[in-house]
Amino acid sequence: MSVVSVINYKGGVGKTTVTANLGAELAARGRKVLLIDLDPQASLTYSFYRPADFAEQPTIRSWFEAFVASRTPESLFRYVLAPHAVNAVVQPLGGHLHLVASHLGLVDADLDLAAGLGGARFQRSSPRYLQVYRLLADALAEQPFSAYDAVLIDCPPNFNLVTRTALVASDHVVVPARPDYLSTLGIDLLRNRLSQLVEDYNSVAEHPINPEIAGVVYMMVQYTPSGPLASQRSSFEETTRIEMPVFSQTIRDNKTAVTEAGNRSVPAVLAPPGSTAIETLRYELQQLTSEFLARTRT
Ligand SMILES: Nc1ncnc2c1ncn2[C@@H]1O[C@H](COP(=O)(O)OP(=O)(O)O)[C@@H](O)[C@H]1O
Ligand SMILES: [Mg+2]
Repeated sequence: MSVVSVINYKGGVGKTTVTANLGAELAARGRKVLLIDLDPQASLTYSFYRPADFAEQPTIRSWFEAFVASRTPESLFRYVLAPHAVNAVVQPLGGHLHLVASHLGLVDADLDLAAGLGGARFQRSSPRYLQVYRLLADALAEQPFSAYDAVLIDCPPNFNLVTRTALVASDHVVVPARPDYLSTLGIDLLRNRLSQLVEDYNSVAEHPINPEIAGVVYMMVQYTPSGPLASQRSSFEETTRIEMPVFSQTIRDNKTAVTEAGNRSVPAVLAPPGSTAIETLRYELQQLTSEFLARTRT
C-alpha cells in the first residue's frame, strides 16, 4: 500500500481535481483505492456525492473529535464510504474507490487537536506528540487498510496539525500548482516546511519517516499555437532551477471539459465519451496517472 498526500498552500490550484481523477483512473485500472478528504471545504467529498445524498454520513471530523474527547483513537475503517456512482463504473473493471469524507467542522477539530498538545508551538516536548502526529499513520496501519493498493489524501491549503498527520502517514507527496511566479515561491516554502516537519519528527520518533516529493503537477496551463504561454514556461523553468521534481505531463486550462464533465458524481477522467475538449482532458489525466505510477511505484 502506498500513501500519497496531495498538497499545496494555495487553494484553487487543482488539488481536489488531481486527487479525484488519479483515484478514479487508478480504480479504473483495477486498483483498490482509498481517498481521504482532509479539507474542511469537502470538495472531494462532493465530487462523489450530491449534497442531498450525503446527509448524516460519518466524516473524518467525528473521528478526530472522538480522539480529542477520549484520547483513544477509534478505528478509521468505520468511516470508510463506497460512493455509488463512481463504483458502478470502476467495479466492473476490477477496482474500487472508497472515501473517507470531510466536514466543515474539521476546522475546529484541527484547533482542538493542536490545543491538546499545548498549542501550535513547543509540541515536540509534549508526551503525546508522537501519538497525535501518528494518528493517521497508525490508523492506516490497521489490518483492513492493507487491502488497498493506494491511499490518496486531499490536504487542506495549510500546514496545520491535521495536514501534518497526513504528511507523517505518507510515502509520497504530489504538489498541484498553477504556473505563476507566486506559486513557485509557495512551492519552495512548502518544501522547507516539509523538511522541517520530517527533521522534528525524526528527532523524537523511533522509526524515521521519509515522505518524498513525487513532483509538482502544473494545472490549468494555457497554450498558444507555439506551446505554453511564455510567462508560464518561465515558472516551469524556475521550479526546475530550485531542483523540484516536476511531472512532465501538465493539465491544460480546459473549462469546456470541466463544464461538460459537470457534476455527475464521477470524475472527468471517467466521463462518457464526448467532445475533443473532454477527450483531451481525459488523455492528459490518464498520462498523468501513468507518470504517477512510475514515480511512486504504486
Ligand atoms: N484543467 C482545468 N481547466 C479549467 N478549470 C479547472 C481545471 N482543473 C480544475 N479546474 C477548476 O478549478 C477549480 C479549482 O480546482 P480544485 O481542484 O477544486 O482546486 P483545489 O482543490 O486546489 O482548491 C475548480 O472549479 C475546478 O473545477
Ligand atoms: Mg480542494
